[in-house]
Amino acid sequence: MRIGMLTGGGDCPGLNAVLRAVVRKGVFHYHDEFVGFLEGWRGMIEDKSIALDLDAVSGILPRGGTILRTSRTNPSKRPDGIDRCVAAIDKHKIDALIAIGGDDTLSVAQKLHEKGIKVIGVPKTIDNDLGGTDYTFGFDTACNVVCEAIDRVHTTAEAHNRVMVVEVMGRDAGWIALYSGIAGGADVILIPERPFDVDKVAESIRQRHERGRYFSIVVVAEGAKFSSDGLGAPILQDMGKDEFGHAKLGGIANILAREIEKRTGFETRAVVLGHIQRGGSPSAFDRVLATRYGLGAIDMVHRGEFGCMAALRSNKIVSIPLKEAISKNRFVDDEMIQIVDGLFEEIGEKEAAGQ
Ligand code: F6P
Repeated sequence: MRIGMLTGGGDCPGLNAVLRAVVRKGVFHYHDEFVGFLEGWRGMIEDKSIALDLDAVSGILPRGGTILRTSRTNPSKRPDGIDRCVAAIDKHKIDALIAIGGDDTLSVAQKLHEKGIKVIGVPKTIDNDLGGTDYTFGFDTACNVVCEAIDRVHTTAEAHNRVMVVEVMGRDAGWIALYSGIAGGADVILIPERPFDVDKVAESIRQRHERGRYFSIVVVAEGAKFSSDGLGAPILQDMGKDEFGHAKLGGIANILAREIEKRTGFETRAVVLGHIQRGGSPSAFDRVLATRYGLGAIDMVHRGEFGCMAALRSNKIVSIPLKEAISKNRFVDDEMIQIVDGLFEEIGEKEAAGQ
């Protein structure tokens, strides 16, 4: 078969591992040929592609980013965008398309499927918030990067008697904040799922310092929301939006640091980790997971399971309808929140995990 591939949306450590696994199994076991469309859906609209053979994917397993590059181009927002994708598929005589991306990229894949294109999805996002799958690759690497950053912040916080507020990615779901916060031994973890009361956050830090501690670490997801000012809205970097309608989040750590210092009198600093979390080499876990997703996707192509996404369920790669995966985000659930609650002292009502 002749198979097209693309990587769309924010990049993610492990994308190259998926491409490599698909091409290797496709060539060795099914005698497939591959075309890689460049820069996500933009490459289809503008007809930019490369041949993907064994040489092209050689040596890319440990590399971050994606050799196909990526973009947040949304064909539905371009005149004839979807039709141009269909035309590119026809022109390159593509029998099946593997789209690797998050809910935005996969929602376009679903539209193409509805137009009769044979599409398979592979889930990708460091945020780990895609529905239908237990884990997305890239999340583990991001958590390791954040955990290391928290460890480093710890020593400087301790040396200066400071409160350090570490802002991590996580637009709608607080998985990175939660996992890396637990792993890094944070004192307060704030996630989008639970708007937080800044007075209570300050009080929990004050009480910790009363118990003899002289520094604290707060981990806050970029999409976390203040409840105390009644706003409950995420903090935005600017008013710009991408083609899928997402605002640019960021800046909550600076605001929070100021408010904590005002309320406690403790010197407080903010650290924004930003795209450092998405860059660099994938962890061993993500290399294996991404490889499994790639192998699963090429097998799905040959089983004819189109309109479906490879998903991880109970540590097995299974095939689920794309529609199911894009229908809802996967949020931090109550069980996980309770794990964090168990780690912190209660002050009046529950405090530290973002309430
Ligand atoms: O890919 C998801 C994500 O990592 C979000 O957590 C974050 O808000 C966004 O990407 C940042 O995107 P960009 O790279 O376009 O600034």
